[in-house]
Order: sequence, then structure tokens, then C-alpha cells
Amino acid sequence: MYDKAISSAVIKRLPRYYRYLGELLENDVVRISSKELSEKMNVTASQIRQDLNNFGGFGQQGYGYNVEYLYTEIGKILGLDKKYNVIIIGAGNLGQALANYTDFERRGFYICGIFDVNPRLVGMSIRGIEIYLIDELEEFMKKTPVHIAALTIPKAKAPQVAQELVRLGVRAIWNFAPTDLNLPKDVMVENVHLAESLMRLSYNLKAVEESKGIEKSK
Ligand code: NAI
Repeated sequence: MYDKAISSAVIKRLPRYYRYLGELLENDVVRISSKELSEKMNVTASQIRQDLNNFGGFGQQGYGYNVEYLYTEIGKILGLDKKYNVIIIGAGNLGQALANYTDFERRGFYICGIFDVNPRLVGMSIRGIEIYLIDELEEFMKKTPVHIAALTIPKAKAPQVAQELVRLGVRAIWNFAPTDLNLPKDVMVENVHLAESLMRLSYNLKAVEESKGIEKSK
């Protein structure tokens, strides 16, 4: 446990540190200075030092950071040393794509079941992960603890299904449906909206185009 609240901006940056450190480890890099890490990650060295100081530093003056240690510690902070059972609600295009992605398991997220209303999908499996009828979820959860539910169903259905998941005891929802879920405060919702990310890209593209236009007209 850390004795002060960590800002959400720092928490947001941690997965990126984790990814870079993982790559360094794969390339057998044993230690790295905050300056070298900052050049790789394109953030300032002081930002890195400030961020990591939130968790007690990890670095040593003149030595830098021990890559494996830092990677392990950030993994612990992110809770990646634990195993999570994940279910997917909605076995359509997106649900199947998530189920087909093997890298989640490497991070400790195990997809243990997929649920859908379509009886034609029942009995099929993706990478050995079975698709069940949504009506079977309550029974399933009596036998298998579920830590995270990914919601990949049409947006009109998502709020009601999310409420049902909460009633059954799910406390973390990875929401892909483009809608707000309005759940109790103790339920964690992480919204993933690719379209919003595209809109930010569009904004930046537009800004670059506009600045070129201004340059030309000068
Ligand atoms: P899809 O139509 O291929 O699949 C939806 C699946 O949900 C179907 O198999 C359907 O039978 C099932 N379903 C419907 N109601 C259900 C319920 N009450 N309980 C359980 N299963 C139910 O749709 P697709 O393309 O996979 O998209 C799914 C959702 O993800 C949509 O809301 C879509 O807008 C969203 N989406 C979000 C993205 C993002 O960036 N967040 C990107 C792509 C899609």
C-alpha cells in the first residue's frame, strides 16, 4: 500500500511504463537511467522521476533503474501479479475478437466464459472458451468467481445487462458499448471507445491541416 493517493494521470501512464520496460526486458536490458527511458518514451526525465517517486522511487542515484525490478513493481502496482477471471457478454464481432486475443492471459486476465442471447452460438467455443446462453450466467458464477465482465453487446441492451451483472456480484465492467452505464459507485467501469479515440485523431489532423492552411496563406 502507498501512503498517498496517486493521481489518475499517473495511473494512466503506468501501463505505458510497464510496456516499455517489458520490451527492454525482452531485449535483456538490465538497467536504464531516467534520461534513457525518457528518450525512448518521449516524456521528460523529470516526469518519470516524479511519477515513480509516488511509489517510493525505485531508482538509485548514478545507477538508474533496475529494469526487471521496476517492471515487477509496476506490475504489482497495477495488480498484474494477480489472476483475474474475465467473462465476455456478447459473442459477436467484437466479443469474438477479444476472445481470440491471446495476450490478455500473459497479463493475468483469463477469459473463462462467453455469454450471448443467441441460442445458435451456444456450444461453440473460441480458443477453447465456451459460449453459453446468458441465462446460464447465474449458475456459472456460483461455480466460477468472475472479476471482470467485458460488455460487447448492442448499446440499447448494455445498461440493463450491466445492472444484472452487478446484481450477480460483478464489480468491474470493461464497457465497449457506446453508452453510459450509471452503476453504483462501488462498481468500476472502464469505458473503451475506439470511435472517441478516432475523433481525437481527427481533431489533431484537422488542427495540422488548418495550421498548414495558415502557413500557406501567409
Ligand atoms: P455484433 O452484433 O456482432 O454482436 C453483438 C452480440 O451481442 C450478438 O452476438 C448478440 O446476439 C449479443 N447480444 C445482444 N443482446 C444481448 C444480451 N442482452 N445479452 C447477451 N448478448 C447479447 O456487434 P459488435 O460489432 O460485436 O459490437 C458489439 C458492441 O460493441 C456494440 O455496442 C458496438 O457499438 C460496440 N463496439 C464498440 C467498439 C469500441 O470501440 N468500444 C468498437 C466496435 C464495436
